[in-house]
Amino acid sequence: MILNASGCLDPLVAPDVARRLDAVVTKTVTPLPREGNAPVRIAETDSGLLNSIGLANPGIDRFLADVLPPLLELGPPVWVSVGGFSAADYARSCTRLDATAAAVVELNLSCPNVAAPEDEAAAIVAAARAETDKPLYAKLSPALPDIAAVAGAAAEAGADGLSLVNTIRGLALDPATLRPRLATGTGGLSGPALRPVALAAVHACFRATGLPIVGMGGVETGRHALELIAAGASAVALGTVLFADPGAPDRVRAELAEEAALHGFGTPAAARGASHERVAAAVNGPRAERERLRLKL
Ligand SMILES: Cc1cc2nc3c(=O)[nH]c(=O)nc-3n(C[C@H](O)[C@H](O)[C@H](O)COP(=O)(O)O)c2cc1C
Repeated sequence: MILNASGCLDPLVAPDVARRLDAVVTKTVTPLPREGNAPVRIAETDSGLLNSIGLANPGIDRFLADVLPPLLELGPPVWVSVGGFSAADYARSCTRLDATAAAVVELNLSCPNVAAPEDEAAAIVAAARAETDKPLYAKLSPALPDIAAVAGAAAEAGADGLSLVNTIRGLALDPATLRPRLATGTGGLSGPALRPVALAAVHACFRATGLPIVGMGGVETGRHALELIAAGASAVALGTVLFADPGAPDRVRAELAEEAALHGFGTPAAARGASHERVAAAVNGPRAERERLRLKL
């Protein structure tokens, strides 16, 4: 299953790209409208994209009136990403969304550009759970000191799945002035630099929870997608790559099928968790096996 990452595709501006996805994920919506941060809000770096959009969005009222209805007409199931500054904010949006045809609610529990409520993850998931029967995916920051523990807490509080990972804080300097290129100073780094970070997060959270996981972070090719699936992802989201390559959904889907076949898997889904078998063999197997695999752990 291939989705877009929240904030990296406007399905109403690019409906042909959206229709190539198995589900479309909205930009994070908050109870009240937000203008977001002042420009400059985007900067390219050697290893990815830095952004400080700051959750700019029209607010849940206008979203429900003007954005969601045409999104639902596109075809793919719609996942609505919600954010806020307190558990009550998330609960409020979930109450409103419960009566809609949204397929999934993604709880954006991480955004480096606003006060991040990671430590309240369980409280937020529980508050959201009380307001809706829709599947709830908790989207976590890779900067958490123990992401698996937070994932476990989210699962216990009623999360049905995890979206891993959001951006990680980064800074880019103007080479001439040596001043920050983003108006906010730091921003969220996405793209290639996130790949190993995302793999580690997915790997740890799959082991901790076994929940369905949407893996994301620097996916540009079918091999990157297959690696996330082998780490434990059940779906993959495309983010930064969509800015450079709107054809990425079809391309990555085809490459993923090829890569999976090359590795002997009948379908990409059959590769889910494959990296863990190796870890289990190394942990449980005879000493020689452990030694052989030591460097691959
Ligand atoms: C311009 C931009 C805007 C984003 N906006 C959101 C957002 O509104 N909500 C959210 O949960 N993540 C947001 N993200 C993070 C992405 O959904 C994704 O987690 C991250 O970019 C990692 O995937 P990638 O490396 O494939 O881009 C945004 C990322 C970018 C680059």
